Amino acid sequence: MSKYIIEGGTKIEGVLDIRGAKNSILPIIAGTILNENKSIIHNVPNISDVYLMIKILKSIGCFASYDDGTLIVDSTNISSCDIEEEYVRKMRSSIIIMGAMIGRLDYTKISHPGGCAIGKRPIDLHLDSFKKLGIRIEEENGFINCYKDKLEGTTINLDFPSVGATENIMLASVKAKGITIINNSAREPEIEDLQNFLNKMGAKIKGAGTSKIIIEGVKKLNSVEHSVIPDRIAIGTYMVASAMTGGKLHVKNVIHSHMKPIYENLIKCGCELDLLEKEAILYSPRCIKALEFIKTSPHPGFPTDMQSQFMTLMTISDGETIFNETIFENRFMNTKELIKMGANIKVLNDNICVINGVKSLSGKSVVSPDLRGGASLVLAGLVSNGQTEVSNIYHIERGYENFEYVLSSLGANIKRVDNL
Ligand code: UD1
Repeated sequence: MSKYIIEGGTKIEGVLDIRGAKNSILPIIAGTILNENKSIIHNVPNISDVYLMIKILKSIGCFASYDDGTLIVDSTNISSCDIEEEYVRKMRSSIIIMGAMIGRLDYTKISHPGGCAIGKRPIDLHLDSFKKLGIRIEEENGFINCYKDKLEGTTINLDFPSVGATENIMLASVKAKGITIINNSAREPEIEDLQNFLNKMGAKIKGAGTSKIIIEGVKKLNSVEHSVIPDRIAIGTYMVASAMTGGKLHVKNVIHSHMKPIYENLIKCGCELDLLEKEAILYSPRCIKALEFIKTSPHPGFPTDMQSQFMTLMTISDGETIFNETIFENRFMNTKELIKMGANIKVLNDNICVINGVKSLSGKSVVSPDLRGGASLVLAGLVSNGQTEVSNIYHIERGYENFEYVLSSLGANIKRVDNL
């Protein structure tokens, strides 16, 4: 099992230019199934979730090759309608393949993804929406069978603006007969990126980024070339690292409108930000001010995917901050490890915890509980006295391209050790 070993006490600073967003590329890869043609996608991050999606495409008969940030997929031929259970078990978000498979094939079968570390994560909104579009769903022995009796546009009112459900409906309805309307759709930037990608291949979708998306079904799609938007969560993570360690970070290739809730909270805790065209320079504060209250909510609210990193930032702030996690019910698993490192955190229930800043943290052996929680422990290691070992880093490598390489190029004393 690989680990990161971090010696705390160095500044994270320099120039950062990172690749595309994990949460964009996964639905986009699913979308390549739809055009029965070639897709060329640039700015693709080199992360394990991408490799797993490529494996899924290959397992159903597509051609796929990935080199130096460019992914080429040819989905002319599809030879299987089954998504192997192993893939869905390894990566819950592979459920996003379902919508595209429905759009392309008359029948598809996928195993039920079940819950995961950060929460129960039901898929009722996905399945109910597919049914509304005319898909017959039969569940047996943990598998979901989808029969395309018909595929007709309809109006879908989501009870919650689920990112995955919104994307799955978009993918399934691109080739439906008539018009599909999604009310209360998720508004995340990654949804807009998926819309742009699908429209470039000939889909007729509008409204992404708002809470009403309208999809006019088309019969045929074409080859496409697209570049993925920058990863706002990865950028936010490195900005927090820099803010905590007293660094100055120059971020290239950033879309400011995607970063709003992250910028606002960095400024509130004392950082200064210079915003240039597609670039940001972060100056860290002398003393990190407590943010007092952070509540996660769907975009444009504060992203749940940045909650763990800001929690670590608050462990060394000058006061008390309450975190209210409203999206997932099990996203405080990093707190146990942060407490080991000396943080003052009280978890009141699944959704609320209270952090009181302490003067310093100390290096310990800790276990990464999930992707963002794992990253938050590495951030803690960067400001700890002594050595921190973070194990189970496969979680972190699902979503951060060359995490230890990027951090060390910015000044961190971190190494990745295999087979200990
Ligand atoms: C996506 C992101 C994830 C991010 C999350 C919220 C990807 C690959 N993942 O996950 O990084 O943390 O958005 O911004 O893009 N829910 C239901 N029923 C459903 C679907 C969702 O109850 O059918 C609930 C979930 O349990 C959760 C909430 O809705 O409590 C949000 O989930 P959702 O927005 O769907 O997140 P994901 O798409 O899974």
